[in-house]
Amino acid sequence: MRVLSIEIKNIYKSFKTHDKEITALSNINLNIETGDFICILGPSGCGKTTLLRLVGGLEIPDKGEIYEDGSIITGPSRERGFIFQQYSLFPWLNVLDNVMFGLEIGGSAKEKNIYRAKTYLKAVGLEDTENLYPHELSGGMKQRVAIVRSLVNKSKRLLMDEPFSAIDMQNRHKLQEELIRIWKKSNNTILFVTHDVDEAVFLADHIILMGKNPGYIKKIYKNTLERPRKRESEEFLKVQEKIIEILDE
Ligand SMILES: Nc1ncnc2c1ncn2[C@@H]1O[C@H](COP(=O)(O)OP(=O)(O)OP(=O)(O)O)[C@@H](O)[C@H]1O
Ligand SMILES: [Mg+2]
Repeated sequence: MRVLSIEIKNIYKSFKTHDKEITALSNINLNIETGDFICILGPSGCGKTTLLRLVGGLEIPDKGEIYEDGSIITGPSRERGFIFQQYSLFPWLNVLDNVMFGLEIGGSAKEKNIYRAKTYLKAVGLEDTENLYPHELSGGMKQRVAIVRSLVNKSKRLLMDEPFSAIDMQNRHKLQEELIRIWKKSNNTILFVTHDVDEAVFLADHIILMGKNPGYIKKIYKNTLERPRKRESEEFLKVQEKIIEILDE
């Protein structure tokens, strides 16, 4: 059954700078179903981050509405876990405390959350890092902690803004595979911003191709490649070529 998770209706967003007004997004419409893995792909400045921040409730649109489970989004919520390109951990807290930040601090709820935190940390290979501080972790480890934090918070939706772009290719591929594993188990809805075609083709069910000046949706590409996806396969390369062709149009 199709259940709408996020409904984006006729969104416009502009920013005023000291000397002019920039229209970042124009006439954006998008329906996202529960459990969908969406990648937003497009050139620098086409409004990917702005779109994600609007869904996150960190910005408000000039025009149009964004609905979550049928209600208009008016601000941030624990339902939507935001994972930024720059690492967003608290430097003064260790891994476990970062993951637990903002959760119940006493009683059986705390016990349960610690158990959940430890289970998720183990699932992403971080079981030995609980007592480490962010500066003692690699970039990939930090992003794993940020993902675990969203999962422990029971966010139904993950909003990810180029979360792996600062990570070397080998580890990036590993993180992508882990994210797919987590997503399949959790049935989370994921909105993942990237400017990497390969990453979008590997991850997404639907790829939102954007153009710019002002930012708009060029095409929504349904990616039906079977999972697990093989980067070397002919089909994979064909989809990649198709996407590049549309972006270049
Ligand atoms: N707070 C702001 N104030 C003024 N202009 C802004 C602001 N945020 C975004 N913009 C402008 O809106 C447009 C879209 O920016 P946005 O950051 O959403 O693009 P992007 O697709 O995420 O780019 P990148 O791939 O480089 O991250 C750009 O022209 C940018 O300069
Ligand atoms: Mg951006």
